[in-house]
Amino acid sequence: MTSIDIPQTIDALTLEEKASLVVGSSFWTTASVDRLGVPSLLLTDGPHGLRKQATEADQLGIGTSAPATCFPTAATLGSTWDPDLVRRVGAAIGAEAVAEGIAVVLGPGINIKRSPLCGRNFEYLSEDPHVSGELGAALTQGIQSRGVGASVKHYAANNQEADRLRVSADVDERTLREIYLRAFETVVTHAAPWTVMCSYNRINGERASQSPWLLTEVLRDEWGFDGLVVSDWGAVADRIAALAAGLDLEMPGIDQRSAAQIVDAVGSGQLDEAVLDQSVERVLQLAQRSHRTGTPPTVELAAHHALAREAAAAGAVLLSNDPVGGTPLLPLSLDSRIGVIGEFARTPRYQGSGSSQVIPTKLDDALTALGEALEAPVPFAAGFSVAGTTDGDDEALRSEAVALAQAVDTVILFLGLPGTTESEGFDRTHLHLPANQLAILEAVSAVNPRIVVVLANGSVVDMPWRNAAPAILETWLAGQAGGSAIADLLLGRQSPGGRLAETIPLRLTDNPSFGNFPGELGHVRYGEGILVGYRWYDARQLDVAFPFGHGLTYTTFSYGPVTAQVTGAGSDVSVIVRASVTNTGDRPGKEVIQVYVGDPQSTVLRPLRELRAFTAVNLDPGQTHELEWRLDARDFSYWHPAEHRWILETGEFHIEVGASSRDLRGTAIVNLEGEQVRPQLTKESTYAEWNAHPVGGPLLRAAIAGAIESQITPSVAAMLDDLPARLLPMMLPAFTADQLDRLLNRVADSF
Ligand code: GLC
Repeated sequence: MTSIDIPQTIDALTLEEKASLVVGSSFWTTASVDRLGVPSLLLTDGPHGLRKQATEADQLGIGTSAPATCFPTAATLGSTWDPDLVRRVGAAIGAEAVAEGIAVVLGPGINIKRSPLCGRNFEYLSEDPHVSGELGAALTQGIQSRGVGASVKHYAANNQEADRLRVSADVDERTLREIYLRAFETVVTHAAPWTVMCSYNRINGERASQSPWLLTEVLRDEWGFDGLVVSDWGAVADRIAALAAGLDLEMPGIDQRSAAQIVDAVGSGQLDEAVLDQSVERVLQLAQRSHRTGTPPTVELAAHHALAREAAAAGAVLLSNDPVGGTPLLPLSLDSRIGVIGEFARTPRYQGSGSSQVIPTKLDDALTALGEALEAPVPFAAGFSVAGTTDGDDEALRSEAVALAQAVDTVILFLGLPGTTESEGFDRTHLHLPANQLAILEAVSAVNPRIVVVLANGSVVDMPWRNAAPAILETWLAGQAGGSAIADLLLGRQSPGGRLAETIPLRLTDNPSFGNFPGELGHVRYGEGILVGYRWYDARQLDVAFPFGHGLTYTTFSYGPVTAQVTGAGSDVSVIVRASVTNTGDRPGKEVIQVYVGDPQSTVLRPLRELRAFTAVNLDPGQTHELEWRLDARDFSYWHPAEHRWILETGEFHIEVGASSRDLRGTAIVNLEGEQVRPQLTKESTYAEWNAHPVGGPLLRAAIAGAIESQITPSVAAMLDDLPARLLPMMLPAFTADQLDRLLNRVADSF
């Protein structure tokens, strides 16, 4: 297609042709209009590599697809905290998409990890909206840098798999704004995705696919989104209502009923043709954006594999590395006889199941990679059957593993979640590793305390067993090159670069969504509100197995003093935060310096601290790096539930800088000039609210001075605080309803 004249094309299209353009023409493609040079567009999963279906389409990766580089999944990419690296991964996926003639890659997935039970957490970046937004924007920028569209998904509040096509996520507006919409806002305003994919679920009873508030008022009118909204596959229940709400493209084209309904709706006047034209225009704009000429550049698959290996190492989180006999087990010393136990070393678990599933171009396993690196075969025992059977086989496997453990200095034990336990389409019901794997850990640790556990899991597992393993390396689902990356890390050729983007709690019942997950009777209540993830554990001062932002490496770092310089006020406020970090060890390493903001004086509940900035730096031994971040008004603001807007309250704010949410190395305290938030006084306002009001307080106190001072006792005062002002005359006959009316008028006049 050459660059077409969009207005002219719209004028030339028949109503039937227009209707065909806003409904998929097949499982993966949009319709063409050959006579007007409008091409069909190919949309293809997924967030960490292509799943271009070569044969009959299917939605959940059951069929085959063309081989593509399977990069680390979002859980691993999210743990890199490295936008530059993640952007390069996006660009590689985009390059492969160009070669395959794809117009839109259906990713990144940026839904917040509300519960570790969610079956698709492997496909999402973090429990925190800042990490999700920054890395989601980087992936989007990378993909689109190649002239291919991204589709940031699933907009919005799709935080579970259970009943995902019907369930209503019941979330208050403040929580939506501050937590579940925020990463989408960052991606839309920082990376301008060509498309946004709406989610299956309802939000407060209204389907996302037909919510004018979600798809038009917030997404377009507030955030300025100018791309195309595509449905999740099968998310449209009412095509006319969806079009009117701003859902431009229904996928897939299950049949052409939707198109016929659109024609009828325009014909009957139920749907204004201008609304249809608006979506047709967006489809044509997408075709124009994705139009490419010339032969696509050749794809460097070997380079992409190397990038996948780099990303896997950067996203691996060294949770613990406790000394044994005075020396940490990692990196392995080459004169230590190692033995490898665990089927995952030989048969890697490297990605999740469902629509994101990629056929890799190659697949590295850690056992082979270790053998190649050490130039000698590494003793191995499977230890357990991945299927998790606890039949007699496991007994034989266990004895073989114990014998191996007794014969070597150090055991590398590969554990993890079988692919059958977490996936798109269903959630987990507990956080435990399979029983037969825990049995192996117990049996092996009984004969050899020098154990390094390497984990492969898409979402958090609990770790009551952690004391049996001095070293724990969490690799999440590390992609096709994960095996080589693990060997690099174990042998010290690379340093683990990951930091937790999802808290590892001590137990599931500590998680904020517990009791409200996955909901029932078609509703899931986000009862924890804004206190998701570390925001909850911090507010309740709960111990955790490993905190948000945590991750060790093979060196140590010290931090210099934290300073903050404020300029401006209100919406123009700007705070420059500075700190320095030094590599105080004897090996190069990566540190992720994190900046959290706290508002101890706020008039509404706020988390103790919220991540507002981070920087990943690689430092050589002895090297110091000076860091600077600029925080703006939004970084200190909250969404006011009654005023329905962002508010920066005047007052003191704490800016903490550190290596994790619970390893804070310095604090700067600033006073910012914002708004004095006070409730609008009414007859329903309580005595306490009147009392706290700068105008209403003195007026009320003066009005009832004689009546109240003589009678008040502390218990009466406490009772009065929560009394609506309209009842004061009942409690204080000397104060009349007319007097209250006069006070209300005087307060209103004073503004
Ligand atoms: C799936 C997923 C979505 C995917 C789409 C196409 O149901 O929810 O992430 O892109 O359908 O496979």
